[in-house]
Amino acid sequence: MSLFWRIFSLNAVGLVVAAALLLGPVTVSTPVLPAEALVVVVGLALLLAANAVVLRIGLAPLQRLGRDMATADLLRPGARTPVAGPTETAELITTYNTMLDRLEAERAAGAARALSAQERERRRIARELHDEVGQTLTAVLLQLKRVADRAPEELREEVGQAQEATRAGLDEIRRIARRLRPGVLEELGLPSALRSLAAEFSTHGLTVRHDVRGGLPPLTEESELVVYRVAQEGLTNTARHAGADRAEVRLRLVGDGVELLVRDNGKGLGGAPEGAGTQGMHERALLVGGVLSVGPGPDRGTDIRLRIPVSAGAR
Ligand SMILES: Nc1ncnc2c1ncn2[C@@H]1O[C@H](COP(=O)(O)OP(=O)(O)OP(=O)(O)O)[C@@H](O)[C@H]1O
Ligand SMILES: [Mg+2]
Repeated sequence: MSLFWRIFSLNAVGLVVAAALLLGPVTVSTPVLPAEALVVVVGLALLLAANAVVLRIGLAPLQRLGRDMATADLLRPGARTPVAGPTETAELITTYNTMLDRLEAERAAGAARALSAQERERRRIARELHDEVGQTLTAVLLQLKRVADRAPEELREEVGQAQEATRAGLDEIRRIARRLRPGVLEELGLPSALRSLAAEFSTHGLTVRHDVRGGLPPLTEESELVVYRVAQEGLTNTARHAGADRAEVRLRLVGDGVELLVRDNGKGLGGAPEGAGTQGMHERALLVGGVLSVGPGPDRGTDIRLRIPVSAGAR
């Protein structure tokens, strides 16, 4: 029954009963006698109580819907409001749930397009850095070597320094290109790529251990890239924000899926709001049907867990 008819019929019943009583046995004198006042007050109280109960029951699903709308998060999809209540409310909830289906699908498609465009662009920049700036610097290095061979004694040291600086620049460019395009992923596969990532982030202040088990089910190329990018963002955050001296990258078979864990022993999230990095991790996870959680570690520090069910991400 619709909310309108519920409230209307309740009020109608109350008023009809009151009118029938007034026309029949009940009389109200002027001034009112105490017994009559009691009957009127009790009748009124009963009517109000019944009204309150019907409204409370009828509006509860709307309140629930309001709460769900306020906390809806497209990055954590799948939550739906149970369809309940009077007709209009049930229709509203169904429409809202359908709207969420559409928004989640559009968001996922949009994120997939944006992320693949980003990967393409990164590859292009990496290629240009490597093939163009890298080649130019290599040519400069060779030229400097020829100059060094023929340079008078007093210039040798300066030319040597220029060679050193050029070599450092070349290394830097190779490093940046490698980060932009995880070539190791294509060449050596995910376990080696994760090991090399751990080594890359290990500095004098931070030791990154890796625990990458063999015998993992093969993942699709897309899932491997997602695991790699999540590990990369997790370690970047550890290096930038955590103040940790130890971190760990772990990849294991857990249940029917593969789980990546990036754990550090730093100061923890401390209620920091999500940035683009964390949202990007969630979006990437959704892309391959994975689930990502970012939260406190067992003692202190931060844990990032990405679980990809094999059915969703396996080759
Ligand atoms: N491992 C960590 N330890 C401590 N704090 C962290 C850690 N990872 C994230 N944070 C906190 O969470 C915030 C959000 O991280 P997020 O990666 O989303 O954004 P960001 O790193 O600030 O920027 P970017 O968009 O460049 O990644 C950070 O600003 C930081 O305060
Ligand atoms: Mg970040």
